[in-house]
Amino acid sequence: MSGFLRKIFKNEEPQENNKKTPDVISGTLPVHIAIIMDGNGRWAKRRGLPRTAGHRAGMESLKRVIKSCTKWGIKYLTVYAFSTENWKRPQDEIDGLMNLLVEYITKELNEMHQNGVRVRAIGNIEALAQKARQSLEKAEKTTANNDKIYLQIAINYGGRNEIVNMVKSVLDDASQGIINGECIDEKLIAQYLYTSGIPDPDLLIRPSGELRLSNFLLWQSAYAELVFDNILWPDYCEQDLYRAICSFQKRSRRFGAVAD
Ligand code: FPP
Repeated sequence: MSGFLRKIFKNEEPQENNKKTPDVISGTLPVHIAIIMDGNGRWAKRRGLPRTAGHRAGMESLKRVIKSCTKWGIKYLTVYAFSTENWKRPQDEIDGLMNLLVEYITKELNEMHQNGVRVRAIGNIEALAQKARQSLEKAEKTTANNDKIYLQIAINYGGRNEIVNMVKSVLDDASQGIINGECIDEKLIAQYLYTSGIPDPDLLIRPSGELRLSNFLLWQSAYAELVFDNILWPDYCEQDLYRAICSFQKRSRRFGAVAD
């Protein structure tokens, strides 16, 4: 197919899958990568498939990315699987996503465990259906002693909701004398978030062409380096992640200070 036709039939754009990426990345690596796995619906629509087929293909991308991160020594990976706003979607899509989560854990837990992945769910997990909750609990329990890579699955997660919950818990503990109101600082607040104990993301990636955070890790992303990409999540491959890391490595991270 000519380059011109490829541009028209975007589905047929050449994949980067077979381009070589290094086994080891030299230089400073992001300790924590966060990803908004976006574009599943559009990927499915372009193929005349139901949206759930896009999510299923997105699940395969997630597996690839976990493998690449493990290989390159990325310590923390947080993925946005379902937001507090995603309940507005059609019920069959919500059910499809929850079933996929259960299926993913059922099928992948053993391998993740063997590969040293530690799973943690972040978000309002209590509000999920029992099956999804139990799967996540099982994954957390099974992998609790692993330390090769920390996989945080953000599910029924919203950054604002997280902040509201944090404020309530801080007030609660202050009123019971567990903490002293005068000791409230950024460090203490971080301890009351779902991500307590996890370093802030260094690199936040959003594929699919959208240029927003969509309520993801609002507090934690204060100094994350952002990489936006046009690739739809189901097409996301190791080469794309490698490019994002290379882009990260070119940034000058000053955290409000001045360069040396
Ligand atoms: C956003 O794309 C994606 C989601 C809301 C779901 C992400 C879920 C997965 C990748 C499934 C695998 C994950 C687990 C943990 C099993 P979108 O549907 O908004 O895409 P669109 O913007 O093209 O419509």
